Amino acid sequence: LTLKFPPFEIKIFLLLFHAVFHEKMNTEETIDQLTTIRAGYDLPYPDLHSFDQLQKEDCKKIFEIARIFRDFGTKTLPLLKDIPIALAFFESSTRTKSSFEWAGKQLGADMISIGSGTSEKKGESVIDVAQTIDSMGAKGIVFRTSYSGLPQQVCQYISAGVVNAGDGWHEHPTQALIDGLTLSDEFPDLSKKVITIIGDIKHSRVFGSLVRMLKTFNMEIRVVSPFTLVPEKMESVFGVQHFTNIESALPGSDIVYVLRVQNERGATKNIPSLREYSKMYVLSPERLALAKKEAIVMHPGPIQRDIDISHAVSSAPTSRILTQTQNGLFIRKTILWLITTQKEEKKFARI
Ligand code: CP
Repeated sequence: LTLKFPPFEIKIFLLLFHAVFHEKMNTEETIDQLTTIRAGYDLPYPDLHSFDQLQKEDCKKIFEIARIFRDFGTKTLPLLKDIPIALAFFESSTRTKSSFEWAGKQLGADMISIGSGTSEKKGESVIDVAQTIDSMGAKGIVFRTSYSGLPQQVCQYISAGVVNAGDGWHEHPTQALIDGLTLSDEFPDLSKKVITIIGDIKHSRVFGSLVRMLKTFNMEIRVVSPFTLVPEKMESVFGVQHFTNIESALPGSDIVYVLRVQNERGATKNIPSLREYSKMYVLSPERLALAKKEAIVMHPGPIQRDIDISHAVSSAPTSRILTQTQNGLFIRKTILWLITTQKEEKKFARI
């Protein structure tokens, strides 16, 4: 008589039990960790429409929370179970929309998506659309719009927390948080690090929030573009150094950040042609070699390959473009969690 011990079925049962138990423990430990790190923290305001609403300490707290989400990965963590959240994207998006949607779903939220469509055609205002969604119980509404300032206007009319996912030429605060997390992973002390930003500054909402974030961390900011692609008085308003020539700006740079030419906002009328632009401003391996040897390269996407950044540079080991995209998911989990679970009395502190 041969007795197999433990029998095959018991082995399978034990393995399954261990896997389920381990998963449950991991989920509970992560929720405990997040609650401990948050320690009752709320964002300073019920909405996030501008990076001006955040201080350095807020950024550090957001990065700490996002790192815990990142360690946990993409599995379901039911922190926002059944909380209604709407994505209101009235302009195209790949990275921002998909990461907000996945972020909400992976936290168990009840996500819906509305966008350009019948309401606009019927003449309904965005404020009326927002009030409609709000009245059905939304706790958070994430807006992307071509109208600068719209998220800040809308939040005066609704009780749901509003997140700006890019408004016109104005700001894109969650992109700046993504970039801040990516940078602080690379450089524990960002103070005085040199960042050179190349591209269409004038029409860039990414720049609008990025420059505020970089100044919060006391970084040295250089900007490179033709005179026709920078806002007037930019140096005095933002306290940055402007160059029209890439070769003069890059030496000593720790980070090279590239922005695309915003064709959809009329930028191509400000340059002779994209071909001429790329001759002077594309980030090529030869130009990148002028920065510090270990300099990293960033770009918020979408990239215009070989116009704003060369294929070789965007796919080199020094490129952090896909790291930025990956961090997007975890920053957006953090913002959705913070925005939709705030203390009720904060709803009145709107700006
Ligand atoms: N960076 C960024 O906002 O990309 P999308 O337009 O794809 O969302």
